[in-house]
Amino acid sequence: MAAYEYETHDYDVVVVGAGGAGLRATLGMAEQGLRTACVTKVFPTRSHTVAAQGGIAASLSNMGPDHWQWHMYDTVKGSDWLGDTDAMEYLAREAPKAVYELEHYGVPFSRTEEGKIYQRPFGGHTTEFGEGPPVQRTCAAADRTGHAILHTLYGQSLKQKAEFYIEYFAIDLIMSDDGACTGVVCWKLDDGTIHVFNAKMVVLATGGYGRAYFSATSAHTCTGDGGGMVARAGLPLQDMEFVQFHPTGIYGSGCLITEGARGEGGYLTNSEGERFMERYAPNYKDLAPRDYVSRSMTMEIREGRGVGTHGDHIHLNLSHLPKEALQLRLPGISESARIFAGVDVTKEPIPVLPTVHYNMGGIPTNYWGEVLNPTAKDPNNIVPGLMAVGEAGCASVHGANRLGSNSLIDLVVFGRAAAIRAGKVVDAESAVPETNTGQVDKALDRFDGLRHADGAVATADLRLEMQKTMQEDAAVFRTSKTLAEGVKKMGEIAGKLDDLKVTDRSLVWNSDLMETLELTNLMPNALATITGAEARQESRGAHAHEDFPERDDKAWRVHTIARVEGNKTSLEYRPVIEAPLSTEKEGGISLKKIAPKERTF
Ligand code: FUM
Repeated sequence: MAAYEYETHDYDVVVVGAGGAGLRATLGMAEQGLRTACVTKVFPTRSHTVAAQGGIAASLSNMGPDHWQWHMYDTVKGSDWLGDTDAMEYLAREAPKAVYELEHYGVPFSRTEEGKIYQRPFGGHTTEFGEGPPVQRTCAAADRTGHAILHTLYGQSLKQKAEFYIEYFAIDLIMSDDGACTGVVCWKLDDGTIHVFNAKMVVLATGGYGRAYFSATSAHTCTGDGGGMVARAGLPLQDMEFVQFHPTGIYGSGCLITEGARGEGGYLTNSEGERFMERYAPNYKDLAPRDYVSRSMTMEIREGRGVGTHGDHIHLNLSHLPKEALQLRLPGISESARIFAGVDVTKEPIPVLPTVHYNMGGIPTNYWGEVLNPTAKDPNNIVPGLMAVGEAGCASVHGANRLGSNSLIDLVVFGRAAAIRAGKVVDAESAVPETNTGQVDKALDRFDGLRHADGAVATADLRLEMQKTMQEDAAVFRTSKTLAEGVKKMGEIAGKLDDLKVTDRSLVWNSDLMETLELTNLMPNALATITGAEARQESRGAHAHEDFPERDDKAWRVHTIARVEGNKTSLEYRPVIEAPLSTEKEGGISLKKIAPKERTF
């Protein structure tokens, strides 16, 4: 058994991760007087939410008529009818409240002439239940909305005396013998010490796992740490086959160019200078949802109408927009285009390509953020003491495809919901669970094993193998052949985790060990993704299966539940929640309105 001394900390709530969801949960918990710690592997304002550009969706009606029911309808349709309806209603209904709270906390939103929060159009957001024109629903702070939100929430959390443990890497969850979560074991990166956090509630807000792919808009820190810990605790992941490709990653670097660029009037062209989205989505054109636009771009490239020497990308045109609008509304991406593509957006188009951007799947939760471990008897069985929010979780509010700007609102609505729920289920007067030493020892044995790993495969090499396989075999378009090959290859790749070589044995700032721990987290996420994708014999949202091009609601309107053990993944299915939270009589949306139908734009 590995001999490590550790320091113990007791809290009502421990939030792991300090992005938008983690900070909103932390703030909400602390505001209610719960003793709250936020443990984060990067400085809070460096969390990946800082890179969110275009904005946060809420039906404020500042720029024209809007309604939460229209927002809910768009989210249901955007999800290709795989989202849980209760969660989608909760998101759309609570969104305006959550945004006004942000405003009052101090988020410096861009403003209209009358001083209201400025809102821009984004893909898939419409009026009149998809029958009317696009709506301006996305509240923006120029093209640095995530940055503005993150800084504000961090400041407010400090004001509420939440305690931050910064640059602490979460190694594993501590589970009780009867299946409740009672804490988390962490490694402090700057001095090498080990810390055990005991808590009545652990909230995983660890973000997505974009770095399972070779080219992603996600930060290098997006390594699915929550999903990895959950899988090792014997808990499942949900709907992992749905991976969003953002249409406009900069060709080559993968750096994000916000959809807000198209919201402000930008458009895509092929090698013939044609605005091809008019053919694929005659009504909403460049403002169709992301899965639609990414597929259309890929088709253009495949059919020989890509731009550039190799005909392998597409142009995003902004040069027709007034210079002042670019300066005021899109300063960040103007700079990114210059730095990463060498392009002056006032004169030239930006070379872009669909790039991995977001994971619709994650740790299954209800709309309060409580983690689910579905059983045959109870598909909504709750794991006591454990929540997951933000991209790490799967409420499931985005189903098979997320609408742009529904991510930031997901972070704050469900971060807030987790805090509201914790206020009810966490008893501030009760005792904090005692350290489960057996579980701590198990976590530290794993840690020590990796620290001294002396096999034949370097972490960076294995990571690259995984990333290339995922990029090739679980892409925008998928076939039975590529998926079957991908499952086989990923099984072999994951098997090599037992043969890793770590060269640095120290405990202080050991990035070799940290990247190895991250790789062990990425791997179960990747396995669940490709295995779930191979099994799903239909096309829905971001899962475009060329051998099964139609959506099949009868067989496949179900959530995939994946359990990963070592390099083996087993699948079960869980019904989609079809009932909204409120009936039509109670002011809710009519069931007829949100019944599944063909998804056209
Ligand atoms: O395009 C963007 O600004 C990204 C927004 C989002 O993913 O919600």
